[in-house]
Amino acid sequence: MAKNALLKKDSRKEDERLLRAARKVMKHAHAPYSNFRVGAAFLTTKGELFAGCNVENASYGMTNCAERTAIFSAVAQLGPKFEIRSMAVVNDQDVPCSPCGACRQVIYEFGPEATILFQGKTLQRKKAWKKSHITELLPEGFRLK
Ligand code: THU
Repeated sequence: MAKNALLKKDSRKEDERLLRAARKVMKHAHAPYSNFRVGAAFLTTKGELFAGCNVENASYGMTNCAERTAIFSAVAQLGPKFEIRSMAVVNDQDVPCSPCGACRQVIYEFGPEATILFQGKTLQRKKAWKKSHITELLPEGFRLK
């Protein structure tokens, strides 16, 4: 197989792995207020996989999104020295859902070159998966150093 075709196949396999992990963790969501379950999974540049779901609270503002749960759980397990390579985000309503603004900034902190896979607009009844670089989602993200 040509090199390009092999690379494409690898990236499809990686996407499928991330989507599977995101769907699995989504089932753990605590979402009694919105009933909108979200799962996120990411790979580090070294190949470690982390996943997280949304965790809501009766005091709505305390809610933690799936993306941040996944990242915070990686920090708790590995410490802060890892880099996000790619992340997938899924929801149980099968609707377009890109990471919220707060999560974009947190993803950027640990993955300034990350690619994000999420469900975009449905086109002619066909689900459209979107793959975006984090800087497309968050131009000029905030950095202290
Ligand atoms: N939510 C996420 O977990 N990630 C997103 O990217 C968007 C929104 C959660 C937060 C809340 O629990 C529910 O979805 C509805 O907003």
